[in-house]
Amino acid sequence: MKHFVTLALLIAIALVGCRTEQSDQSIKDAPDMTSYKEPFRPQYHFTPESGWMNDPNGLVYHDGVYHLFYQFYPHATVWGPMHWGHATSTDMIHWEHRPIALFPDQSGLIFSGSAVVDTHNTSGFGKDGIAPLVAVFTYHNMEGEKTGSNDFQTQGIAYSLDNGISWTKYEGNPVLPNNGIRDLRDPKVFWHEESKSWIMALVAGDHAKFYRSINLKQWDNISDFGFEQGAHGGVWECPDLFPLKVKGTDEEKWVLIISIGGGGPNGGSGTQYFVGDFDGTTFTSDQQTFKWLDWGTDNYAGVTYNQVPNGDRIFIGWMNNWQYALATPASTWRSAMTLPRKLTLEKHGDTYLLNNYPLEEVNLLASAPRSEHIDLESGQAQSLILEGLNQKKIAFKAPNADFKITFSNELGEQVGLIYDKASQLLMLDRTQSGHTDFNYEFGNKLHYMVVNEVKEEFLVELYLDWSSLETFINGGQYAMTQLLFPSQPFNRLTFKNLSQEKILFHAIEISTMKSTW
Ligand code: FRU
Repeated sequence: MKHFVTLALLIAIALVGCRTEQSDQSIKDAPDMTSYKEPFRPQYHFTPESGWMNDPNGLVYHDGVYHLFYQFYPHATVWGPMHWGHATSTDMIHWEHRPIALFPDQSGLIFSGSAVVDTHNTSGFGKDGIAPLVAVFTYHNMEGEKTGSNDFQTQGIAYSLDNGISWTKYEGNPVLPNNGIRDLRDPKVFWHEESKSWIMALVAGDHAKFYRSINLKQWDNISDFGFEQGAHGGVWECPDLFPLKVKGTDEEKWVLIISIGGGGPNGGSGTQYFVGDFDGTTFTSDQQTFKWLDWGTDNYAGVTYNQVPNGDRIFIGWMNNWQYALATPASTWRSAMTLPRKLTLEKHGDTYLLNNYPLEEVNLLASAPRSEHIDLESGQAQSLILEGLNQKKIAFKAPNADFKITFSNELGEQVGLIYDKASQLLMLDRTQSGHTDFNYEFGNKLHYMVVNEVKEEFLVELYLDWSSLETFINGGQYAMTQLLFPSQPFNRLTFKNLSQEKILFHAIEISTMKSTW
């Protein structure tokens, strides 16, 4: 995984030519190829208009606007020389595309990073009282990588005085050179009020490094974390560090999010987190083992917004997995972001758990729900017909007993969610979900999520959007995100009782979600 970038680029170059043919094959039944109506195009998730997208970058709120920058290759639907694409929103649901913010240059490609509003003009980039937006990113130098050296990733900055439309790269780049660490990237910078300084979290292969600066230009390494803690099945990427109050208390803890390029809970990419303390210099956590922010295969490289006015912690992830990201069925664009999710922290016994749950604004898109309840004898099943589009929110209270619910269509394609009480696992089966053969790993096994704290019944909320399903249990206590590529909309939802008892699914609510495009 360490060398996936080189690998990805080589594959990208090889695929640019032949990909079109394969994609044409997989979309031959395309009903409509006009923009935002193409097959598999999510209708209430962010997708680029065209081209390739991966990680969310530079998430920052400024003057009533949420900025979403992202890893972008505009010239093909596979990974290539990275730019920062840009979109803006006032609610994180409806997005407007903006001009490309950052282009690769002689110092390298523009890899992932963050953005801040430099309110006090510590950088000196501000002019005429305008606070600059400052982007902090990784330069990835392809030439350097080819020569076999390890110092080809450095950190650079750029600023904008017009709300992110035009950018000037700092002539003193790189602001953080590299002394020979192979994977040194993805700076997340935030203002730390107590120490009146900027803090940068950076990853360095198998651990995180923290730096401090007073002007965003000179950085000092202040501490390191994680050589021996958490999951190490792949290279560490896309760190994020932020404080959160523990729900219902005044206790404040710090959360460190780390994406790992391999060894995720169901294979490939995954997002883990640590809960601990940060004293302005050092992050400590007594957590030895890993915790997953999302159990699905398709929520990667997620980070949170800087400077949200009410202090909410809002997370967006890239809905994909490096195992097969370059091969998913695509037409003119490839990859979507997760729904924006609010992060909250809860303490269960001695353990801190990070919840993630779609923003309330998402539900404003839902039509008035159709309500149902279903009683089932042991072994019995009942189906509901799903009318209309493949963009649904489905909620219900599930019994703590063995069951399966299945989305299916006329072609026999189906996606199942299976709950097994004895093992306390909720499993997702996409093995027959439609297009699965573009990559062996995509549809070869059940995905599991450990839901070991559910009581006698639990709330299940499903957000289906043409080519993705996001599952939330008990308001975000457990979450999993999966891509799916059915050839036709799922028009049937079947509830089946796999237990020995009579069971009841109640408060079933089915809504169609409005398109945001
Ligand atoms: C994560 C990542 C980052 C890197 C970027 C390159 O998906 O590998 O570590 O900056 O993608 O596009």
